[in-house]
Amino acid sequence: MTQAAPEALKGEDWAGDMGTRWLANLDRFEGMIAPIGAALLAQADYKPGERVLDLGCGGGSTTLAIAATVRPDGAAVGLDVAPMLVERATERAAAAGSTARFICADAASATLDEPPFDRLFSRFGSMFFEAPVPAFTNLCAMLKPGARIDLAVWANPRDNLWMMEMMGVVRQHIEIAPAVPRAPGPFAFEDVCYLEEVLTAAGFSGMEIVAYEGDQPVGGPDASPEEATDFVFASMAAGRVLEEHGPAVRDAARADLLALFTRHYREGEGVMLRAKAWLVTAHA
Ligand SMILES: C[S@@+](CC[C@H](N)C(=O)[O-])C[C@H]1O[C@@H](n2cnc3c(N)ncnc32)[C@H](O)[C@@H]1O
Repeated sequence: MTQAAPEALKGEDWAGDMGTRWLANLDRFEGMIAPIGAALLAQADYKPGERVLDLGCGGGSTTLAIAATVRPDGAAVGLDVAPMLVERATERAAAAGSTARFICADAASATLDEPPFDRLFSRFGSMFFEAPVPAFTNLCAMLKPGARIDLAVWANPRDNLWMMEMMGVVRQHIEIAPAVPRAPGPFAFEDVCYLEEVLTAAGFSGMEIVAYEGDQPVGGPDASPEEATDFVFASMAAGRVLEEHGPAVRDAARADLLALFTRHYREGEGVMLRAKAWLVTAHA
């Protein structure tokens, strides 16, 4: 263990470094959270003709799925702050002959040149706002009165063993300051009472929650323990911090992560660790 002061995991710079890392590992990230996307899409149950905004759409896989459901008269528009992800999403839509469209802008402040939407969807794209109430107020203004929103947000890290166990291993090698509750980041809305406060203050009502629980493949389906370990180093905040340390610390942490992932590897599935998310609905 190093004796340095605990490091804080840096905020996620989606229009820069984090967006680049998400893009470089797009298939692995999307493969990892695909089951949760499928559950949220099933819950949202879009119908032909609906106009849907996909908040923080990333590489656009959920926007493409929505576009296929709401066609021919509906619209699926992905909104994301990361230019490299919007570019990739736009290329994917063109390659697939999809009607999905993509806009690069900060959802917290953007005014879209679009008619109001019937629905808003977001798989893990809503937890990164520095000031969530004004951001959700801005989003509410993009929707028709009564429009339904469907969000997936991570539940408590304790219930997300893919994160908890990974961080447990990393903390055996370097000190990382505890996460600040409610700070922008993947677990900003782990406390759904806080999310309800935010949504209510932003003009939404009638929040309902369904818990999603299931094993998810770290690094995507079929990733080997070695590939899952490389994925953590290449793409996750904790891996990034480890990369800044000397080879002795890095190599020891890598060996322990590999051992963890080997224990959880299931042939034909991948490195399977428990995940829990909240599937949230509310109305504008
Ligand atoms: C965890 S990724 C999820 C991507 C995508 N929804 C998916 O499930 O594949 C979070 C996404 O939210 C986007 N994002 C973060 N803050 C944003 C903001 N203020 N406005 C728009 N997009 C934002 C990021 O650029 C990133 O693509």
